[in-house]
Amino acid sequence: MKKIIVLTGAGISAESGIQTFGGQNGLWEGHRISEVATPEGWHKNRELVLNFYNERRQLLRKCAPNKAHLRLVELEQNYEVTIITQNVDDLHERAGSKNILHLHGELTKAQSSLDPSYIKDIGYEDIAIGQLCPRGSQLRPFIVWFGESVPMMPLAMDIVKQADLFVVIGTSLEVYPAASLIDFVPDGVQIVVIDPNRPAIGGYANIKHIAKIASEGMDELIAMLKLV
Ligand code: OAD
Repeated sequence: MKKIIVLTGAGISAESGIQTFGGQNGLWEGHRISEVATPEGWHKNRELVLNFYNERRQLLRKCAPNKAHLRLVELEQNYEVTIITQNVDDLHERAGSKNILHLHGELTKAQSSLDPSYIKDIGYEDIAIGQLCPRGSQLRPFIVWFGESVPMMPLAMDIVKQADLFVVIGTSLEVYPAASLIDFVPDGVQIVVIDPNRPAIGGYANIKHIAKIASEGMDELIAMLKLV
């Protein structure tokens, strides 16, 4: 089976009611990114950071996958599909996609602030101050913050190198290293970008931009694949 590799960002979850990051003057749900999405922010005010992600988790509990997530699952009937997502929501999982790699962590997991290999499923429960890992350090959200390394990058790069078709949905491609994954698409492989706006990409041959929201763009992609 041919391999479709899909890179998703906040835009695919917009129709599910989750805000994207762009165009908010550096604010994320009313907070400065530096306060809630950096190790410095965590050291300054752990309670604020925990509360912020506790709220994100409560919102996620009420959201559902949208048609774009569901149509990606449909592709699995005819293709080997791997999704590399920058999103920390669980909407690809709840839609039923089989192969999902989270580059920036997952809201439904907690991590030890001492030992990054200790990761625990928490579902939609809060993390509280005083909740500790077995070695006695505070649990934190399992989120890759700005300034932290992205441990899944080498695996993601290897996956992208195997693409027969590369699809990018709802990401501004402004945050690195995730944005550099497009450089690992083999020469000559078609890249399809679904986004109402054109993300920060230039100089790539074989790009088809479908300037639509994710659900409508997925309809077009599926129609296009049937013609191939
Ligand atoms: P951005 O908010 O930067 O980009 C969202 C993209 O989605 C933009 O290109 C929009 O045009 C597009 N978009 C908006 N509505 C859409 C819709 N209904 N359908 C399709 N596309 C739509 O989000 P990301 O690129 O995902 O990192 O941001 C990357 C990373 O920066 C995130 O993972 C996060 C953030 O800070 C961390 O949390 C570490």
